[in-house]
Amino acid sequence: MTDSSTSESHYFSSNPPPATLPQHTAQANAFVTHHHAHSRRVVLLTSGGTTVPLENQTVRFIDNFSAGTRGATSAEYFLSQGYAVIFLHRQFSLLPFSRHYSHSTNCFLDFLSEWGRIGEGEEGEDGGAATPDVVVKAKYRREMLSVLRKYRKAKEQRLLLLLPFTTVTSYLFTLRAIACEMRCLGNEALFYLAAAVSDFFVPPDRMAEHKIQSGDVPETTSSAIPGGGGGGKKLVVDLDPVPKFLKRLVEQWAPEAMIVSFKAGAPFSLYTMLFTLETDSSILLKKCNQSLDRYAHHLVIGNILATRKYEVLFVEEGSAQWVRLPTSDGNSGGSEEVEIESLIVPEVIKRHEKMLLGGAAAH
Ligand code: PMT
Repeated sequence: MTDSSTSESHYFSSNPPPATLPQHTAQANAFVTHHHAHSRRVVLLTSGGTTVPLENQTVRFIDNFSAGTRGATSAEYFLSQGYAVIFLHRQFSLLPFSRHYSHSTNCFLDFLSEWGRIGEGEEGEDGGAATPDVVVKAKYRREMLSVLRKYRKAKEQRLLLLLPFTTVTSYLFTLRAIACEMRCLGNEALFYLAAAVSDFFVPPDRMAEHKIQSGDVPETTSSAIPGGGGGGKKLVVDLDPVPKFLKRLVEQWAPEAMIVSFKAGAPFSLYTMLFTLETDSSILLKKCNQSLDRYAHHLVIGNILATRKYEVLFVEEGSAQWVRLPTSDGNSGGSEEVEIESLIVPEVIKRHEKMLLGGAAAH
């Protein structure tokens, strides 16, 4: 066994599986079996950030940034292209369809109004005070009807399976289980890994059982914040690396499937610009190529946090291509109305189809 596969095996044997694992595996099995029988392609789409708890009875945790926008939006475009979608998402992050209303700046009640307000003194059917109907305001009706119809179709045809996770451990156990359930699909299976996955965690043997009390934190000799009132106390968190599971996924859990990962880049620093002459785009390209070399999967989609809604970089063996939203003046830069996922998903599907025509995936 290689070092990396040893650390991955150790991760699974030393961390407890989530209590939901048997139920989620059974749901994934029924979903995959159903769609396999109907010759429908299935995409496993991961979305949202994983957490790293600091205590077993968790009060505090470290989080990974992701609202779930990329994942929830992409899921809708995959559904519109005939794919069945397993949506492995961070609990309470954005969901397909409800995303249009759930996290908007308005409260969802702002979409509604009363209709048929009954005059004073009139009675309702039951003899009590009459209640007006609650309806969607006219200006939202057309768009909501369109979302509602797509949502109902996905539900009636069992095209969308929602499976939540919270911690990085529950994410990894569930990812592995679903990947194994999807093996029967061969290269009809697609993995679209948009979740932001923790790189560091607290191993179980170092995890506190209950909330870490400030009184239990030891004094340190290094200086505390002046005037902070905490004396010399510091909470030092000692994290281990989470093994990279992409290699396992590619080589063992889903060897025939098409695998697409995302790579997030931060804007470059002034230091980088002055001393290396690199730009955020060139650093992103380098990181995407490194990921492709290391894991030998099919496609890495690079995105920079500040511009991720307007442009992404498709990197595959031997080529790199920007996918950008056009503006009304023909330049790139983005438009509020067109979602970049409406360009990303068809580009991914085009590559999946090419792979299907070419036979089994070549890693
Ligand atoms: O939801 P939004 O707010 O719209 O944000 C979307 C996004 C910016 C989070 C998304 O588009 C994105 O970039 N997701 C990937 C972020 C990420 O985890 O990058 P990474 O460099 O940490 O990991 C790269 C790949 O390695 C990922 O596909 C991940 O699945 C994999 N990985 C990561 C950690 C780990 N321990 N094992 C892994 O296999």
